[in-house]
Amino acid sequence: MKSADSVVRLFVCSAQKDEVGKEVARALKIELKKRGLKKLFTGGEKHKVRVQTCNCLDLCKQCKKGPGAALVVHPEGTTYGNVKPKDAAEIVQEHLGEGRVVERLRID
Ligand code: FES
Repeated sequence: MKSADSVVRLFVCSAQKDEVGKEVARALKIELKKRGLKKLFTGGEKHKVRVQTCNCLDLCKQCKKGPGAALVVHPEGTTYGNVKPKDAAEIVQEHLGEGRVVERLRID
């Protein structure tokens, strides 16, 4: 049986009044597929990548009150704020593909 640790999850808040969180999640899924990064090989282990919408992450200043959505990369815990759909390619390529945090969107 596989352990829960073999999955990297991107939890995207979709509690805003508009649909930005859902649009960000959709864009992330598209980029993961396009770049072949739905499965990662890092740290000597294989990881599946899942994108999930969720309720408020208590980061509303960078989400509900901003132009974009907040998201958390689990289990590592990096948080991004004010993420717009056009940022999805950068997060997928840099963070997941190259293992570098996208500093301009980081809020933790
Ligand atoms: S509404 Fe998105 S973090 Fe609170």
